[in-house]
Amino acid sequence: MSMHPDCERIMLSEEQLKARVKEVALAVDEEYAEKRPLVVGILKGSIIFYADFVRFLTMPVELDFMVVSSYGSGTVSSGNLKIKKDLDRDVTGKDILIVEDIIDSGFTLANLKALLLERGAASVKIVTLLNKAERREYDIAPDYNCFDIENEFVVGYGLDYNEQYRHLPYIGILKRSVYEK
Ligand code: IMP
Ligand code: MG
Repeated sequence: MSMHPDCERIMLSEEQLKARVKEVALAVDEEYAEKRPLVVGILKGSIIFYADFVRFLTMPVELDFMVVSSYGSGTVSSGNLKIKKDLDRDVTGKDILIVEDIIDSGFTLANLKALLLERGAASVKIVTLLNKAERREYDIAPDYNCFDIENEFVVGYGLDYNEQYRHLPYIGILKRSVYEK
């Protein structure tokens, strides 16, 4: 597999992603078998993970999306959550699964979970592709997580730097020279 020249190395290959996403999705499928969850994808970072994840679910599901931003264009969280696109429908009584690309400081997911519970969701659980546990500043943990990773800036499989690299089929570590200019 050829690697993008801006990547230092491939952290997670397509095959590793595929196998682990399936494993996690099947565990969620089992837990939610008797429910009808609303699966909320956080755009844009979760798109590829989300598309792979939901295709393993076998119960009736509703799909919806939110656009939130806590980051500017760089690699450090600005700690200011903005809702740029909200859900289409009311969440009262719904069992919600939030699908997110990565949990870093935890700011985005801590705020989002609180918001959805405040709006009357019956339950809110979090599914993440990546977890940078070392970076956590807010008291929140994913209910389901695919991979724990070190504190490195990664791109691909939906994750970006400056809106680039989201389409890469693997997770790669971005070369420092790309963002330290
Ligand atoms: P948090 O609110 O600090 O947990 O940040 C979560 C968001 O930060 C994610 O949805 C990503 O958009 C972004 N983020 C954090 N680490 C990375 C990374 O290594 N690569 C790309 N985006 C990242
Ligand atoms: Mg994001």
